[in-house]
Amino acid sequence: MNVALYNQPLSSLEADLTIEFVTPAQLESHRLYPLLAQAGFKAESEQFCTLHEHRLILCGISEENAETFRSAMASALKAAMGYTYTSLKIAISDKKLVSALVDGVLLGGYKFESYKSDPKKTSLKEIMFANESGSDFPALEILFNQSVTIAKATNFVRDLVNQTPYDMTPQAMAVAADSLATSNNLECTILDVNGLEAEKMNAMLAVGRASINPPRLIHLAYKPSNPKKVITLVGKGLTYDSGGLSLKAAASMVTMKMDKAGACAVMGIIKAVSELKLDIEVHAFVGAVENMIGGNAYKPDDVLRAKNGKTIEVRNTDAEGRLVLADVLGYAQENVKADYLFDYATLTGACMVALGPYTTGVMGHNEALKQEWMNAAEASGEYCGILPFNRHLKKLIKSDLADVCNVSSKPYGGAITAALFLDNFIDENMKEKWVHFDIAGSAYTESAWDVHTYGGTGAGVRMSIEWLLKLNTQGNN
Ligand code: BES
Ligand code: ZN
Ligand code: ZN
Repeated sequence: MNVALYNQPLSSLEADLTIEFVTPAQLESHRLYPLLAQAGFKAESEQFCTLHEHRLILCGISEENAETFRSAMASALKAAMGYTYTSLKIAISDKKLVSALVDGVLLGGYKFESYKSDPKKTSLKEIMFANESGSDFPALEILFNQSVTIAKATNFVRDLVNQTPYDMTPQAMAVAADSLATSNNLECTILDVNGLEAEKMNAMLAVGRASINPPRLIHLAYKPSNPKKVITLVGKGLTYDSGGLSLKAAASMVTMKMDKAGACAVMGIIKAVSELKLDIEVHAFVGAVENMIGGNAYKPDDVLRAKNGKTIEVRNTDAEGRLVLADVLGYAQENVKADYLFDYATLTGACMVALGPYTTGVMGHNEALKQEWMNAAEASGEYCGILPFNRHLKKLIKSDLADVCNVSSKPYGGAITAALFLDNFIDENMKEKWVHFDIAGSAYTESAWDVHTYGGTGAGVRMSIEWLLKLNTQGNN
């Protein structure tokens, strides 16, 4: 699907079909009101009325804001894709709605069909946006192009997440990172098992040991000439999480190809940053590993020495993401002196219990920084919620045998105790610069919602670019 912005009123654009949004308050003054009333159209939230003789889809929205437009645009686009029209036009009535409408079209119209032998074809090819916002065109165009780049990076993440564990192994992730590096002019370093051994990344190696697909550490770097800041991103890349010897129940194992979504997100973020040419140096570190069972599998009762020297008592091999992150966080901090350190991980089912299936959990020591992320998420169309640390929760991961235990002694607050585990692997000077994002709920969906279709959602990309764009305009403070 091709999207384009025109500095023309909607009426002067030639397209097969028009999508219009109407609030209940605007309904009675609509030019087609008698017809709409006759059809029983009340402009209720995401209620449609298709008038083929007018080549028009009317879509109800409760009120006019970015959130309602984003989701209504996605639903209306899906409706339009069901017909045989080839082109579509939509008015942009306000500059504030640009990214919502672009997301509605590009994210809402996303389909992953690589595994279908006969994918359904949509005839809709051309989506035309008309500038009816009164804003000057060059400024609107910059915003529009930015939104397109971000949405495409989000879909790039979805494509990676949606691939099967057979196709997207740790080695395949390294190949995907390498080709991103080639096309976007990034630096790319890959460590194989020998490299991981040399770096003493024993926790990550233990998790991957029973798999026939050996682990890879991936480091991508975007280095503009005079960066205002240096940012490190770390992603959990479990290409499959069977749970290991603490094997998952059959039903919980299904969808665990998505346990690599954090890794895919950091690749998508660095892709967008490099295409937007931000003056910020970004490093993306990925721990790509498969957690399997076997005679050589790591076990509950093992004690592992992580890269930073700390020892970990393993009591559950399904709490593997934090073990991989412990080593990758250690490696990342040793290799890059960054101003900020953010990690993205489908870390705990408990995060979904706490916040529901749509919301990313935000954790860390720096209250102001977490609030910045809440604001960035809201502006970008993602949902985030802060889960607070406290010193009592920290006691729950104490170990009698080693420095720290990989699971909590109590069954509640699991998203926070997982983050407090990670805290053991954050250097003293980075504590206030670190934020952890638990995307277990937000990264994948089996039922469409908002701009998300079945599968990976690309969670983390839009909010991170929003936060980085703000940093980029703040200058050298
Ligand atoms: N990858 C899972 C977390 C997860 C669960 C992500 C559901 C997405 C959907 C993680 O490795 C895991 O298994 N965590 C355990 C931790 C427990 C053993 C302390 C969990 O959440 O049950
Ligand atoms: Zn697990
Ligand atoms: Zn996992």
